[in-house]
Amino acid sequence: MEYDFTTLPPQDRYRLLTNFVGPRPIALVTTRSEGGHLNGAPMSFFNVFSQDPPIVILGIQTRADGTEKDTLRNIRRTGEFCVNMVDMELAEGMVLCGVNFAPDVDEPSFAGMDTAPCRQVDTRFIARTPCAMECRVERIIDFPRRAIVLGEVVDMTVRDDCLDAQGRYVDPSVYQPIARLHADNYIVADRQFELKKPDAATAWESGVAMPLKERAE
Ligand SMILES: Cc1cc2nc3c(=O)[nH]c(=O)nc-3n(C[C@H](O)[C@H](O)[C@H](O)COP(=O)(O)O)c2cc1C
Repeated sequence: MEYDFTTLPPQDRYRLLTNFVGPRPIALVTTRSEGGHLNGAPMSFFNVFSQDPPIVILGIQTRADGTEKDTLRNIRRTGEFCVNMVDMELAEGMVLCGVNFAPDVDEPSFAGMDTAPCRQVDTRFIARTPCAMECRVERIIDFPRRAIVLGEVVDMTVRDDCLDAQGRYVDPSVYQPIARLHADNYIVADRQFELKKPDAATAWESGVAMPLKERAE
């Protein structure tokens, strides 16, 4: 099958892109509404792209009726948001936060999730999240029906049990994020494996690089 993306309707592009580009990590994004309410919404057009500066990116589309989602409106107004990583414990609450409620509905409370105040931005984070990243808007790139939000991470709160004894790396038996596949399908990172990169000489001697060498000659 071949698809010409220059003529394909957006909903087909969405289906194909999200079917194949996955699993996508899920940011449960918390923001502050104009009326002071907490807002929570999951975003799986999300990832980290840099550590210097520390940049995370969200892709937020308009609703079907063309209006802006509360998350984007709040981000534009305050210039701040918090990304909460999601594991199995938070999965059902995360999906409830994805329901299109009125702007004054505090989705995390509705979903039964406790929250705590962020340190450097004016919103709250999900108390049981494995990792909360407080972000300030670096820039917003606007398209007709979508905004790409670049956020600079200014603070991180990590749930202590997610880290190994030295506090340097995550403990993979505890930190098992969920991610979105296609449609309503998700995956949990409970089958992790190590794959060590050999140095160039070892790889060469063991013949791993032979096909490349043959091609070069
Ligand atoms: C797992 C999951 C991932 C989602 N990812 C996105 C996304 O990346 N971008 C987006 O605009 N909406 C996404 N949505 C839909 C929003 O969460 C949904 O429209 C929500 O009602 C927006 O809430 P708000 O109006 O409070 O911002 C996702 C929903 C779910 C359940």
